[in-house]
Amino acid sequence: MEFSIKALSPETAKTGCVVLGVHARGDLTPPARRVDQASRGALKKALGDISGRAGSTLLLRGLAGVAAERVLLVGLGDKGLKEAAYRDAVRAAAQVLKELGAKDAAFFLVEAKVGSQPLTWNVRHAVLVLREAFYRFDQLKTQKKAAEPSLRAVALPISPKAELKKALDEATATADGVALARTLGNLPANICTPAYLADEAKKLAREFKLDLDVLERRDLEKLGMGSFLAVARASHQPPKLIVLKYKNSSKKPIALVGKGITFDTGGISLKPAGEMDEMKFDMSGAGSVIGTIRALAGMRAAVNVIGIIPACENMPGGAATKPGDVVTTLSGQTVEILNTDAEGRLILCDALTYAERFNPDVVIDIATLTGACVVALGNIPSGLFSNDDRLAREISEAGTDSWDRVWHMPLWEDYQELLRSNFADMANIGGRPGGAITAASFLARFARKQRWAHLDIAGTAWKGGREKGSTGRPVPLLVRFVLRHAGRK
Ligand code: BES
Ligand code: MN
Ligand code: ZN
Repeated sequence: MEFSIKALSPETAKTGCVVLGVHARGDLTPPARRVDQASRGALKKALGDISGRAGSTLLLRGLAGVAAERVLLVGLGDKGLKEAAYRDAVRAAAQVLKELGAKDAAFFLVEAKVGSQPLTWNVRHAVLVLREAFYRFDQLKTQKKAAEPSLRAVALPISPKAELKKALDEATATADGVALARTLGNLPANICTPAYLADEAKKLAREFKLDLDVLERRDLEKLGMGSFLAVARASHQPPKLIVLKYKNSSKKPIALVGKGITFDTGGISLKPAGEMDEMKFDMSGAGSVIGTIRALAGMRAAVNVIGIIPACENMPGGAATKPGDVVTTLSGQTVEILNTDAEGRLILCDALTYAERFNPDVVIDIATLTGACVVALGNIPSGLFSNDDRLAREISEAGTDSWDRVWHMPLWEDYQELLRSNFADMANIGGRPGGAITAASFLARFARKQRWAHLDIAGTAWKGGREKGSTGRPVPLLVRFVLRHAGRK
């Protein structure tokens, strides 16, 4: 889908569909009023058939006095439009546009005033929500169910100012990154293996001229990543540590560390069978790092980012790590593995230590780490943990800005005693209470020397049920954070 910014008038625009906003109680937005006048009141007459609540829609065809073939009215709710209602309205418009034969559209919804947001915000969110709605993953179906949507071009009818064009570039590149993260997540574990993730990084490196390093099992052994290797032991798929660098600034790098468990069976602490298929999404942290780097490279952002991805499968088997095994991490600290299903922290701890060698400004790890985080927060925000309150605030603000929201959770020292072990420096689990926090507390022991944050995306990286599939979160958040962090005073 191609987006453009150009000044258009709603009544004369020659397009397959003009998309207009209407408020509750028949309040027309300014472009809708112009179409109403040009059509001698046709919109006002039709208003009985649309509630005007955010997300309601009404399609009109062949209005006299209007150049476009179709007019799509979209409800914006009461005046004083908020972020969520704007996104709902864009999503509702997208659903209708997908079903239409229209090849192009003029999207006048974009000029609606949303809270105190600048117009750049509207542009970014229109593009991201439309692209999200048009995303498809049908490469593994031999009979394509629905025909391809015919919409090819969307015009955003606003005056072509530099900052708006920049917002558009940023949003399309971000949407590309989200789509990539979604596809990596949706691919099954027999295709999306650690080697597949490494190949994907190779493709990006080639396309955008990035620096790439892929460490193999023997490299990890030489380094002393005993914890990462303990998780990878029983799999026939060799582990990979993928290090992908996008450098377009001389500032210290931001390190993004993504959990890349391409399938999590639980290992010897085997998971129950129900919904275990969803553990193919356990590499979503890795996918979000790859997607974020793709986005930043695609928009040629002036930033310095390093993606570090420990990738492996967590399998049972004759060679598997057993509950009670003690391993030595890259940091030198020892860990008693009481539950092999708490494997994410075991691969991330070595990756966090590895990140130190790049002397990063900040380190953020992204992981589908705990079911407990889903219990605590549901599927709306990702869990945010940090050893630096200012960094946490920056990430929270980027979350609201991108509407890819997070909730700041506590990480007090008091929790550390839950990880005590009789046999090693620490255990890898802390019991059921506060499970997302004890997982983060484990990671904190490997980030003491760094400004670090951890995003638990277990509830946000994918949807289950009928709409099962990857969301591509938190790519929008990460992109926004990196850009804001680079631009801060
Ligand atoms: N990948 C899972 C976390 C997960 C589970 C995410 C379900 C989304 C849905 C992780 O590796 C895991 O198994 N965590 C355990 C930790 C426990 C053994 C302390 C969990 O959450 O049950
Ligand atoms: Mn697990
Ligand atoms: Zn896992």
